[in-house]
Amino acid sequence: MAAVSPEMNFDIGLVNTIVARSSLSWIDGLNGVLEYVGYDIDDLARHSTFEETTFLLWNRRLPSRSELDAFNAQIRSEYDLPEAMWDMIVSLPRDASPMHALRTLVSALALHDLHADAPDENERKSLAMLAKMPALIAGFDRHRKGLDVIRPTGDCCISESFLRMMRDEEPTERMARAMDVCLILHADHGFNASTFAALVTIATLSDMYSAITTAIGTLKGPLHGGANQGVMLMLEEIGHIEAAEKFVLGRLANRERIMGFGHRVYKAYDPRATYLKSFSKGIAEDTGNLDLFEMSSRIEQIMEREVGAKGIFPNVDFYSATTYFSLGLDLDLFTPVFAMSRVSGWTAHCLEYLTDNRLIRPRCEYNGPHGQSYVPINQR
Ligand code: SDX
Repeated sequence: MAAVSPEMNFDIGLVNTIVARSSLSWIDGLNGVLEYVGYDIDDLARHSTFEETTFLLWNRRLPSRSELDAFNAQIRSEYDLPEAMWDMIVSLPRDASPMHALRTLVSALALHDLHADAPDENERKSLAMLAKMPALIAGFDRHRKGLDVIRPTGDCCISESFLRMMRDEEPTERMARAMDVCLILHADHGFNASTFAALVTIATLSDMYSAITTAIGTLKGPLHGGANQGVMLMLEEIGHIEAAEKFVLGRLANRERIMGFGHRVYKAYDPRATYLKSFSKGIAEDTGNLDLFEMSSRIEQIMEREVGAKGIFPNVDFYSATTYFSLGLDLDLFTPVFAMSRVSGWTAHCLEYLTDNRLIRPRCEYNGPHGQSYVPINQR
C-alpha cells in the first residue's frame, strides 16, 4: 500500500471534505437553510409538487405548464410494473423487511429492462424507478398483510397513487397533500450518505439501477434513513407526555442518541422540520393522533433546553415520524417512503455527476505490519 503522501487530507467520515461541485441542493447548516437549485425548501413545500420538484432537480429549472403536464403524463404511464414483477412481489417472504424487499425489487427492475446498461438512457431509467417505487412498496405491504395488491390507475399524482395502492380507499385531499409535502421535503439533501454511495457506483460507469440499489442499502442504516422509525418507537416507549422528561434525560445521561435530532450539517433547526412540524400537527388533529404531536413538541422543548447549545435540533425525521404514522403507514415503511422520495435526488446527482465524471477512489492510511515471512501451514 503506497504511503499516504503529506499533501493527502486525513478526514475520517469525510466530515470536512468536499468531493465535487453540485448545483442541486444548497445547505446552510449554521443558519438552517435548504434550497433546491436556489429555491427555498419552504417555498417548494408550500407551492410545488413532488413531480415538479423532481423536474427541477433533473433539469435545474422549473417546468412550464405544458412541460409539467407532459412530465406528469410520462411518469403516470410508467406507474405499472411488468407482470413478472407483480409475481415477484407476491413470491417474497411475508416477514421480510420492507427495505430488504425494496432493495431487491428495485434491483430486479433491471432484469426486465432490455436497455438496463445503456449509458444514454439514464433519464428513462431514472423516471422508471421514480414511477415504479410506489407500486413496489405498496404491493409488498399488501402482500405481507395477506391482501390483494392494488394496481396503479395512472390517473393521479404519485402521492395519491401511493396512498390508494396502500389502502383500498380514497385518501383525503389533505392526506394526499401531506404525503406530497413529505416527498418534496425528502427529495434531495446534498451529498448525504446514500447519495454519495450512489455516486461512487455511477462514477464507475455502472448502471443507474445498481446505483439506486446501492443508495437504498445505504439509506437503510439507522444513522441515516431509519431515524423516523426510531422516533415512533421512542414515542411508543415513552407512552405519555408526562414520562417524556425522565425518558429523555435518562437517554442523554447514558450518552444515547435521541432519534430525529442532530445532523452532520445542520447545527440549527433543520428547515425541513419547520414546515413538517406545522403539517404534522394538522394531520395528527385530523387522525386523532394529537397526543403524539404534543409529546413530540415536549421532547423538542426538553432537547432545546438540554442540548440546543450544542447545535442539536430536530431534523427532518423527527416530525415526519408522526406525519407518516398519522397517514397510516406502518413504522417499517417510513424508510421505504424516504427512499421513494430520495430516488429523485439520487438520480439527479447521478445524472449531474456523469456530466463531468471522475472515478471516486479515496486512499487509506495503512497501519498494518510489513515484511512478514510466509510460514507453511504445517509449521504454524
Ligand atoms: C438524515 O446527511 C444528511 O443529509 C442526512 C439526511 C438527509 O436528508 O439525507 O438529513 C437524513 O439522516 C437525518 C439524520 C437522521 N438520524 C438521526 O436522527 C439519528 C440520531 N442523530 C445522530 O446519530 C447524529 O446526530 C448524526 C449521526 C445524524 C450526526 O452526528 P455527527 O454529526 O456525526 O455528530 P457526532 O456524532 O460527532 O455528535 C456530536 C455531539 C456528540 O456529543 P459529544 O460527544 O460531543 O458530547 O452531539 C451529540 C453526540 O453525542 N449528539 C447527540 C445526537 N446527535 C449528536 N446527542 C443526543 N441525541 C442525538 N441525536
